[in-house]
Amino acid sequence: QILILDFGSQYTQLIARRVRELNVYCEIHPYNQIPEITDNIKGVILSGSPCSVREADAPDIDVDQFRGKMPVLGVCYGAQLMAQKYGGNVLPSEIREYGRARLSRVDTHFDLMKEISLDSQVWMSHGDTIKELPQGFEVIASTASVNVAAYKVQNEATYGIQFHPEVTHSEEGKILLRNFVVHICGCAQDWTPDIFVESTVAELKQKLGNDKVVLGLSGGVDSSVAAVLIHKAIGENLHCIFVDNGLLRKNEFESVLESYKGMGLNVKGVDAKDQFYAALKGISDPEGKRKAIGRVFIEVFDQEAHKIQGVRWLGQGTIYPDVIESVSVKGPSATIKSHHNVGGLPEKMNLKVVEPLNTLFKDEVRNVGRSLEIDPNILGRHPFPGPGLGIRILGDITPQKVAILQEVDAIFINGLKNKGLYDQVWQAGAILLPVQSVGVMGDERTYEQVVALRAVTSVDGMTADWVDLPYAFLQDVSNEIINKVKGVNRVVYDISSKPPATIEWE
Ligand code: XMP
Repeated sequence: QILILDFGSQYTQLIARRVRELNVYCEIHPYNQIPEITDNIKGVILSGSPCSVREADAPDIDVDQFRGKMPVLGVCYGAQLMAQKYGGNVLPSEIREYGRARLSRVDTHFDLMKEISLDSQVWMSHGDTIKELPQGFEVIASTASVNVAAYKVQNEATYGIQFHPEVTHSEEGKILLRNFVVHICGCAQDWTPDIFVESTVAELKQKLGNDKVVLGLSGGVDSSVAAVLIHKAIGENLHCIFVDNGLLRKNEFESVLESYKGMGLNVKGVDAKDQFYAALKGISDPEGKRKAIGRVFIEVFDQEAHKIQGVRWLGQGTIYPDVIESVSVKGPSATIKSHHNVGGLPEKMNLKVVEPLNTLFKDEVRNVGRSLEIDPNILGRHPFPGPGLGIRILGDITPQKVAILQEVDAIFINGLKNKGLYDQVWQAGAILLPVQSVGVMGDERTYEQVVALRAVTSVDGMTADWVDLPYAFLQDVSNEIINKVKGVNRVVYDISSKPPATIEWE
């Protein structure tokens, strides 16, 4: 595997994505928590950072623990750190360099630069430049304004690059990373979804033996794939629980339960709608609603789990982005919304936790799901928040409001599916606004609810943009909603990007 040491760059996860795309396993670790260097590690990549190596308290590591013993690639900050450490000179750039540049010199006889073309576009993002290299370091690529765009240490496989090969704007970045990971580090490209399934199932068998596991299904991709993997390892000893919190999409509970049963899972559906509605009564504050939903979920789940004799493990669909300890070199980022609404579950239940997907990114989870032949309808589902429609009904929640929103949402989502637009959208849904507006239906004046429709494109939910859905489609959906859903007389479409808006309205 490849070890990626994170100095806090926003691009660190992308380095891991690119290495994984080469079918090579890699892990990200914070620069200040380096794991034991074993024979399994075939090479090390040092990430970029928002810091400058010239700052007194800049993040630092002992590079000698692997330099010369295995290949090392420093990217941006990582390159500058090594250059400065071994006697070179790093200075503020005369012009700050952000965005595209082109390689004006490439020494392709060096392994790292093989097949990289002259004039290839690379993406720069740095305020410092390596002005002078230490003795024994040589330049192997340059751009018009950066002489040391890439360097190599003579007689050893230590490299540095000033640009970011991991971003898609670096046209041949993938070739460069392949050169490092495959040709220089010698990693076999054998980390595929099939291999992952095979080895994970074997590990789970060993770890779980004859123990029983309980797992909460949500209808989403992650919990479904986790369940199928564990089921493959331990069969009927996996007990799944699917809770109807009364805030799911229309008919979702029944249809998802059916497809789980079709997949051979031992799953119990629990109708807890009334408990959730009772706990939510009169609460309008978004965080208050999230907390109430999270708390009742834990209560219901815990109660159900206790009905299963001798359970020792809690299975969870946690994925890699949730567990990477992001290094915060510039202070902790503020919690904008508390997304991890079932975070308290393992502590409360006193069970050991098994998370077979905690090394995978979302699209890798989908690939594993395909390899397990899970229903494409489950794998291709849009993300849906844990608190469900509860955070799409602004203000307090009543069963009547849920019923209205379920109808509106179903018309919108089915419309997207029927028009072939569903897969072009990352997430979509409807929001019930706490506003009434005047309308006219026939000869009658009406005073009814307003709903907003939201559809966004995104890669990871961190940033998002609204989707330019065809007017004719929006017109049809709006007509259908107003004609069919009693109590709604106005439909608006949300055209805000994230940031500054968020995907959900609460
Ligand atoms: P925002 O609204 O923060 O949403 O732009 C980003 C992504 O997170 C989902 N989301 C949640 N998921 N519990 C969840 O499980 C929550 O409380 C929650 N709030 C937002 C949202 O649907 C989007 O995919």
